Amino acid sequence: MNIFITGGTSGLGAALAELYLSKGARVGVCGGTLEIFKAAFPRASGQRLEFYELDVRDRDATRRVLKAFSAGQTLDCVIASAGVNNGRPRDQIASIDFDREHLIFDVNLKGFLHTVEAALEVMLPAKKGQIVAIASAAAYFPLSKVGAYCASKMALVRYCESLAMDLKKEGITVSCIAPGYIDTPLARATQPGLDDIPFLMAPVEAARLAFHVIEGKKELVVIPWGVRYLTYILARLPKCVRERLLRPRQNRMGVSP
Ligand SMILES: NC(=O)c1ccc[n+]([C@@H]2O[C@H](COP(=O)([O-])OP(=O)(O)OC[C@H]3O[C@@H](n4cnc5c(N)ncnc54)[C@H](OP(=O)(O)O)[C@@H]3O)[C@@H](O)[C@H]2O)c1
Repeated sequence: MNIFITGGTSGLGAALAELYLSKGARVGVCGGTLEIFKAAFPRASGQRLEFYELDVRDRDATRRVLKAFSAGQTLDCVIASAGVNNGRPRDQIASIDFDREHLIFDVNLKGFLHTVEAALEVMLPAKKGQIVAIASAAAYFPLSKVGAYCASKMALVRYCESLAMDLKKEGITVSCIAPGYIDTPLARATQPGLDDIPFLMAPVEAARLAFHVIEGKKELVVIPWGVRYLTYILARLPKCVRERLLRPRQNRMGVSP
C-alpha cells in the first residue's frame, strides 16, 4: 500500500505516518525540512518512508512530487494534513493580520486543491484511490479571531462532500476528517490553556481514530465522539445561545481546533 501524507513531519500527519508504517505501508511525507523530518523519524532509515521537500502552496511542485512518489506504483491514499492556524496565542491577538489570513487560506485550502489535483493525475487513470482531507471541528460554527481558519476548514468540508459525489463513479473515495483539539505544535502555538480543553487528543490517539475513518472509507466524521456530539448540538443552537455558552471559554482561553 502506498500512502502520501502532506504535513507528515509533525503532529497528526507524523502520527499517521508512524501508524501506516507499522501496518507495512510505503509512506511518503512532505512538510518541514529534511532536518525536521529526521528529528521526527529518528529510526526512519531502512523503513519504507520517503521524505519530499514540498510546500503545498506550489501547484506544479505538488504535481511533480506526487508523480515522483507514484512512479511505477499505485497511489492508494493521499492524506492532506498540512495546515496552519494563527501561529500565536489567540488571547494575544488584537488585530487582524492579513498576511497570516492569506497564508491560512493558501495552505489549508489551495494547498488541498493542489494535492487533490496532483493525486487525481495518478488516481483517475487507475480508477482507484482515496483522498483524505483533515478539516477541523472548527468548521462547524464561527469562532472569534480565527475566521480564516474556521472558513478554510468549512470550505474543505463542503468541497469534499461535493468531490465525493463526483469521484465515486471514478472509483475514488473522498474522506473528510474533522478533529477536535489535538496536542500538537499547531494547537500549542495558538491555543492558550490547551490542557484544560475537553476531549484533547494525543496525536497517536487522533491518528488511531482517523485510521478507522479512512479504512472505513467514511465520507465525513468528526473525531473523537465527544466532540462529534458537542459539535452537533452547538451547531444547531440559536447563535445567541451558542455564543453565550462559548463566550466564557473563549474569553478564558481563546478557542479553535
Ligand atoms: N492540532 C489540532 O488541535 C487540530 C485540530 C483540528 C484539525 N487540525 C488539523 O490537523 C492538521 C495537522 O495539524 P497538526 O495539529 O498536526 O499541526 P502541526 O503539528 O503543526 O503539523 C502541521 C504540518 O503541516 C506542515 N505544513 C504547514 N504548512 C505547509 C506547507 N505550506 N506545505 C507543506 N506542509 C506544510 C507542517 O510542516 P512545516 O514544518 O513546514 O510547517 C507540519 O508538518 C492541520 O490541517 C490542522 O488544521 C489540527
